[in-house]
Amino acid sequence: MTASDMTRSDLRRQADALGPWFHNIDLGHGIWTAPDHFLGDYPRVKWRRFADAIPADLTGRSILDIGCNGGFYALEMKRRGAARVLGLDSDERYLAQARFAAAHFGYDIEFRNLSVYDLGSLGERFDIVLFMGVLYHLRHPLLALDLIREHVAGDLLVFQSMLRGSRAVEPVAEDYDFWDMDQFERPGYPRMHFVERAYAHDWTNWWIPNQAGIEAMLRASGFAIEAQPEAEVYLCRTAPVPYGPGAVYPARSISEQCGGTR
Ligand SMILES: C[S@@+](CC[C@H](N)C(=O)[O-])C[C@H]1O[C@@H](n2cnc3c(N)ncnc32)[C@H](O)[C@@H]1O
Repeated sequence: MTASDMTRSDLRRQADALGPWFHNIDLGHGIWTAPDHFLGDYPRVKWRRFADAIPADLTGRSILDIGCNGGFYALEMKRRGAARVLGLDSDERYLAQARFAAAHFGYDIEFRNLSVYDLGSLGERFDIVLFMGVLYHLRHPLLALDLIREHVAGDLLVFQSMLRGSRAVEPVAEDYDFWDMDQFERPGYPRMHFVERAYAHDWTNWWIPNQAGIEAMLRASGFAIEAQPEAEVYLCRTAPVPYGPGAVYPARSISEQCGGTR
């Protein structure tokens, strides 16, 4: 057996011991971590479609990858020269994979077990925040976007969500009369589909927006959409939040609830 054969079998054994993987990471020596992924070479197939929309040189930039999973995007950010990359996930098994992959490539990336709901404890803003493939796994997706805007988003948000339903997007009126109900039937009206049990054999799917729905939620959380380089991917800049303090959390007064403004 050659030294290269030994490296190969050792890598395969280590990667398998940390599996199953969701991210298919090319470890070299002909070893991939999830070669049988149901979406193909995932997430590289998706990344290829929007990689050019992200700055190629991230020298000096700070990056937060929320829901980093096996670390695919964190690795790509480091490859572009980012000064600081912090990957967060709430699942220790994925964090172990991400740490292994980063160590394998010799990249200095920090990975921490932290939920998106606890972002306030970081006390730090980042030049680029990645929030990819997490929103529809959350029971409280708008709260997560609010917390990202409030605590960690410094400039650019790279966002991705599974989308279902119509791709039509109609302009949202400032207000609709109580008796005006037609918009709820139109495909381009913002909509979230609630998954009571499971979708795609995955009980962690809770809310799946249509395209108008996700765009409205991003705007409503204080993100201006600058580009949609891929069908499910949005590049957004932080913008002024379009609501006052009374609109978030349970703080609305009775008078505000009865017709007040946001
Ligand atoms: C579908 S994977 C997406 C992974 C990666 N961001 C991507 O786009 O390929 C969703 C990830 O979000 C993580 N996750 C789920 N709920 C979370 C939460 N409340 N806070 C942080 N991460 C969470 C899961 O553990 C999982 O790694």
